[in-house]
Amino acid sequence: MRILIVGSGGREHTLTWKIAQSPLADDIFCAPGNGGISRLAECVPIGVEDIEELGDFAEQHAIDLTVVGPERPLIMGICDHFRSRGLAIYGPSAAGARLEGSKAFTNELVERAGAPGKQFEVFDSPADARAYVRDRGAPIVVKADGEAAGKGVTVAETVEEALEAIDRCMVEKAYGSAGDRVVVEECLVGQECSIKVLTDGEAVVPMVPSQDYKRIYDGDEGPNTGGMGCYSPVPAVTAEIFDEVIQEIVEPTIRQMAAEGYPYTGTLYAGIILSEDGPRLLEYNCRFGDPETQVVLPRLESDLVELLVATVEGRLDEVEATWRDDCAVCVVCASAGYPGGYEKGKAITGLADAESDDSTVVFHAGTKRVGRHFLSDGGRVLGVTALGSTCAEARDRAYNAVGAIEFEGMYFRTDIAERAIGTE
Ligand code: GLY
Repeated sequence: MRILIVGSGGREHTLTWKIAQSPLADDIFCAPGNGGISRLAECVPIGVEDIEELGDFAEQHAIDLTVVGPERPLIMGICDHFRSRGLAIYGPSAAGARLEGSKAFTNELVERAGAPGKQFEVFDSPADARAYVRDRGAPIVVKADGEAAGKGVTVAETVEEALEAIDRCMVEKAYGSAGDRVVVEECLVGQECSIKVLTDGEAVVPMVPSQDYKRIYDGDEGPNTGGMGCYSPVPAVTAEIFDEVIQEIVEPTIRQMAAEGYPYTGTLYAGIILSEDGPRLLEYNCRFGDPETQVVLPRLESDLVELLVATVEGRLDEVEATWRDDCAVCVVCASAGYPGGYEKGKAITGLADAESDDSTVVFHAGTKRVGRHFLSDGGRVLGVTALGSTCAEARDRAYNAVGAIEFEGMYFRTDIAERAIGTE
């Protein structure tokens, strides 16, 4: 098969790495890809939002399957466009991708599905939103309704902070039209984890749970990032909790989407809070997670291409996914200054030493290849993943590998997976 992957980060490197292991994959392309991906696939200089151009490429190069990494093209309707041209693509339609693209749509659909959700109200007017916040008090969550590159969510500890967030969305338009409406939600308290499934609109194949670290500094301090590390499995997600999430939250959502005429296909990522009252849905994403994919796919024993093709062809009930018992830990190496401003073009050394052990793989998130060398080319630069028979072993291997890597200003958290160790 000829396979095109859309995206340029660590998630897409991991997808490419796993797809390249499949006997079904003959030729792999990635648009636009990155330095690390270029060792496994032919990188094509087309941006992820250039949907027509991506369709032209897929047609001209007889691509048998396209796999989309980031949310933006999914929300923009890349899958609808490809399907209208008779091109096979893995991912939800634009109508399906509203599960990530509109917080109001998701909360209302989950309520109609009868799944345990949270208290929320949707506002088109800042005055009404402010009055509601003053009435409810803090802590409270304010979300721009639309997709705002992960930046539109404020967990407000005080009423004042919530009022500022409403103004940022609705008055200052900091997130453009994504903030035309806001959703004000109850603040769920507990550990956060994610459970993702593949679905063809009916059948569901769950993936192993994972937990990521969103804040930049150790101890979950500092501003939010795209994710500074991850581990899987998550001891706090017992088999009982896992089944409850699938049966009480994810499956009813998928059934409701189909019943309302928008069958959801692709990856559905449920962000879950393990609250005192049981697992509660925090949000849905319409794609694989980043860096969650960097710990989930290394644990997948099955052929990913078989699973993706079965999803696209609507016969996911015919296949099963098997998973390694091993634990996986991923530590993200970032550029100094991230998630604020940072410099690019720093020479990276030690990659071969970091990967000298079979249980470790370095996924490139933001790199550029120049000859045989790699330069930093993003905020998150590398995701170093290691497997081990325990979380502690995987963590030690990942940090040993990180120790072999150097680039000017390299920053990483030192506490990834710590909360899982000793609780396995
Ligand atoms: N790591 C969170 C996400 O992929 O949205």
